[in-house]
Amino acid sequence: MPTTPEQVLVTAGALHGVAVTIETLVGRGGRLLVEHPTYPNALDAIRVLGARAVPVALTVEDPAAMVLSMSRAARQVSPRAAYVMPDFQNPTGLLLDEELRRRLAVGLEQAGVLAIVGETLADLGLDTEPPVPFAGVARPASVVTVGSMSKNFWVGLRVGWLRAEADVVRRLAAGAGHTQMSGPVLEQLAACHLLDAEEEVPLSVAPTSAGSATPWSARSRATCRAGRSRSRQGVWSCGAGCRHCRPRRSWQPPRAEGCCWRRVRVSAPVTHSTTGCACPTCSRSTSSSAAST
Ligand SMILES: Cc1ncc(COP(=O)(O)O)c(C=O)c1O
Repeated sequence: MPTTPEQVLVTAGALHGVAVTIETLVGRGGRLLVEHPTYPNALDAIRVLGARAVPVALTVEDPAAMVLSMSRAARQVSPRAAYVMPDFQNPTGLLLDEELRRRLAVGLEQAGVLAIVGETLADLGLDTEPPVPFAGVARPASVVTVGSMSKNFWVGLRVGWLRAEADVVRRLAAGAGHTQMSGPVLEQLAACHLLDAEEEVPLSVAPTSAGSATPWSARSRATCRAGRSRSRQGVWSCGAGCRHCRPRRSWQPPRAEGCCWRRVRVSAPVTHSTTGCACPTCSRSTSSSAAST
């Protein structure tokens, strides 16, 4: 995205960026739409800052329904903002396609609701990239994007950023100044160094025990991909099974590093068939116990 320096505020990580935006642009008592489930630390920040989270259900099976519900809630609840993660949503890993991003942007804009967009995980796709940044399909005045060095480079590097229109950034900078005079210089220099180096050697570099350098992100992606293919072969066997046990647990193979969403039903016990079912889960439970569980 073409961006000028006036459109960027450096923060102490993405979570700080989210908190500054909520404190400055939502305020105490202000309503804020959130995907449900969402990033738990953002919920804590909302609570601590006295804003009111309004959950909007999200399921990985039906992202269009979430977009529709978000737009409807934006009209009905009069929130000041919506905190959304179109890129590998935390915790579900959901990636919104371009059409759904456009619909979400329009739905929020028409209700005059600011989008606070978490992009922290956007670069971590395993075999797919996000189609277009949310800010690329939204009106500039109606979106604040939050990003971070912590996922692509190093969690301990407390450098993140906010991107918005210049006058919004001025307000956010004034808000951030209440609790922090400026970002730490050393960390920012390290971040500049890493960003420059990334242009020469794509992705950050971690030394191996042999002393050579390996692209860390490439290596961890390879590990995740291996995990995906193992899971497809059933070694992890989540979601595998017969009609008796399948509803009890299901999961989506991860689409990005850091996201693996697994649904586990813990309430009512399921009665397994004791005859004629060869599924490994049923066979295990019938052989270990005469009684069905
Ligand atoms: C969606 C999301 N936003 C923000 C953060 C926190 O980022 P940072 O470490 O830069 O504060 C995380 C970390 O897991 C995250 O998943």
